[in-house]
Amino acid sequence: MSSIIDGVDYGPLAQLLGKWVGNKGLDNAPDADANPDKTPFSDEIIFSVSGPSENAEEQNLVSIKYHHVVRKLENGHIFHDQIGHWFYEKSTNIIMHSLSIPRAVCLLAGGEYKEDGGLSIFNVEAKAGSQTYGILQSPFMLEKATTKAFKMRLTVKNNVLEYHEVTSLHIYGKDFEHTDESTLTRVIYEQD
Ligand code: HEM
Repeated sequence: MSSIIDGVDYGPLAQLLGKWVGNKGLDNAPDADANPDKTPFSDEIIFSVSGPSENAEEQNLVSIKYHHVVRKLENGHIFHDQIGHWFYEKSTNIIMHSLSIPRAVCLLAGGEYKEDGGLSIFNVEAKAGSQTYGILQSPFMLEKATTKAFKMRLTVKNNVLEYHEVTSLHIYGKDFEHTDESTLTRVIYEQD
């Protein structure tokens, strides 16, 4: 699989392109007493190219965009829907991930790309209060269900993608580590 599409080198991001599906997901979210509520899920992610960007005539980014839909395994109902971009800068090896969720929370997380034994590893994190890799949330969410930090490890090898993410919340007067993980298989390879 070439990383060059329409003359643009997407580097490690090219490995993510296409449609992925899985039914091994597990969500751990707070219930009304801030106790862990674990829900098995199926999910699908579609990644497609979003072109190169030159910033201030100096920084050369490439990016792909995605849509992630998560359904409860027990009844197929959608209970999480997420959109965003992944970015890569070749000269610095920087990886960034922007995301938006339908609770009026969005963020930009950053990190570095690495490879280990044939595994491609994308590690990123964001912290509330940072002016760079930070988190923005509505006034209601900031007061009642604050997202304090987010970190994610996504790995890909051939047609298998895995992710594990930790969203650090403060809700119902307590800290809560909201986690999500899944393993997906690529079912369609497409560039756009
Ligand atoms: C696969 C990914 C995810 C799934 C399946 C998921 C699912 C859930 C579920 C089931 C709840 C409990 C509240 C409810 O029942 O509606 C929840 C709460 C929450 N999630 Fe997620 N979530 C995911 C990712 C994220 C991400 C990436 C963020 C933000 C960076 C986030 C932020 C929140 C917040 C702030 C709450 C607290 C809202 C509340 O419980 O009232 N979640 N999530």
